[in-house]
Amino acid sequence: MMIVTIDGPAGAGKSTVARALARRLGYRFLDTGAMYRAVALAGMRHGLDLDQPDDLARLARRVQLRLEGEKIFLDGEDVSAAIRTPEVTAVTRYAADNPAVREHLVRLQREAAGRNDCVTEGRDQGTVAFPRAECKIFLTAGAEERARRRFEELRMKGEPVTFEQVLAAQRRRDEEDSTRAVGPLVPAPDAVEVCTDGLSVEQVVDRLEDIVKKGLGIGD
Ligand code: DC
Repeated sequence: MMIVTIDGPAGAGKSTVARALARRLGYRFLDTGAMYRAVALAGMRHGLDLDQPDDLARLARRVQLRLEGEKIFLDGEDVSAAIRTPEVTAVTRYAADNPAVREHLVRLQREAAGRNDCVTEGRDQGTVAFPRAECKIFLTAGAEERARRRFEELRMKGEPVTFEQVLAAQRRRDEEDSTRAVGPLVPAPDAVEVCTDGLSVEQVVDRLEDIVKKGLGIGD
């Protein structure tokens, strides 16, 4: 079993390149951010007070989360699009900041990886979920570049946001991600850091593929 972890801040291009890398290598892809989003969505739908950590943790353990290819199912319903709205994004921190939710989701992530070769993407994959992964990547990009990418993405979807709003929301999330008490965003000591500024998706995936193959002792 070969595990490749890709961690990094929001907007560094993780999901796009992690998916593409998984496809190229023929590995399973685990989008762990989707799991935190789905727990937050479940909390919203059940009308929970998200500030009550025990209630949200209980719900997280009760619902069924299934990652299937690039889709995520919550109690059998495909919620892949529903978890990406700005409303869900804004409350996902209640799931991500909740130690009991994190513990449960890390367990699900290890189960989902099982005996498969996997590319797994998130914030704590190389540090907490898979500390013994064969290959760890920490993907970064400058704050402005990340916000510009996210802004373009939202604009394409017709979301009425300004660049300044996207940049401000990203600053908040960066702060939350890096100061979280459990599972904060930090590079694993043995992670290879890759900055994606000025690189195309293709170029980043090429570089990651190189890193993975070198790590495995194949390639040049
Ligand atoms: O990558 P994303 O934007 O879909 O992640 C959503 C949120 O979930 C993000 O703000 C941080 C959190 N997250 C986390 O705490 N740990 C992970 N392994 C993945 C995501």
